[in-house]
Amino acid sequence: MERKPFIAGNWKMNMTAASGAKLIDELKPLVKDADCDVALCVPAILIPAMAEAAKGSNIAIGAQNMHWEAKGAFTGEISADMLKEYGVKYVIIGHSERRQYFGETDETVNKRTKAVLAAGMTPIMCIGETLSEREGGITEDVLSRQLEKDLEGVEDVTKVVIAYEPVWAIGTGRTATDEQAQETIAFIRKKIGELFCPKCAEKVIIQYGGSMNAGNCKGLMAQPDIDGGLIGGASLKCDFAKIVNFDK
Ligand code: PGA
Repeated sequence: MERKPFIAGNWKMNMTAASGAKLIDELKPLVKDADCDVALCVPAILIPAMAEAAKGSNIAIGAQNMHWEAKGAFTGEISADMLKEYGVKYVIIGHSERRQYFGETDETVNKRTKAVLAAGMTPIMCIGETLSEREGGITEDVLSRQLEKDLEGVEDVTKVVIAYEPVWAIGTGRTATDEQAQETIAFIRKKIGELFCPKCAEKVIIQYGGSMNAGNCKGLMAQPDIDGGLIGGASLKCDFAKIVNFDK
């Protein structure tokens, strides 16, 4: 299996420059021998200070959103060049909170994803079904639609990280079972194979996200199609290192 596991934190709208730098200082020695790729996706304003704090370590810094245009009259938005100036490697795109509260659509997720790729960074593109969609038995339809629309026109899907985040598991303490997560992520991989090619699908890193923590990460990471995690709440403390070291 050539896919390298990838554990990424999503700080959301948490931390300050001071508390963030302190946490990164504490994490650095704890994650330095990780066998996986490690990233922290931090609020845009904290990127310069967190990039400085993480310097020389194996913690990459990521952003939580990016606009598709290079520059211009887009108040409140952040461009690729602004992120790249600080060495940002990853950008979360289409998080369900952006979709739910900030009008993100499959169309804008698609534009942002392609812009991140064109800028030479890696999008962590989030997809996932709501509770009513899962209970209504339409999980696969929802994920298929998201994958079709969000990845439309993407040339090399192997450069995209997919985060499967069931909306009902985010920040709720309710995790998908290992089997549920495996089954759904295997479906996502199969669908990517149909949309692109089966060989590419085998290379795509697919993370699970939704209340992943130090206690449940081993079981989830043991699943054959789960290549990593996108971690919200548990990335705000040193416990994040336990997830990064899930295999130790
Ligand atoms: P959570 O968030 O780990 O706090 O559930 C995950 C995410 O939304 O990326």
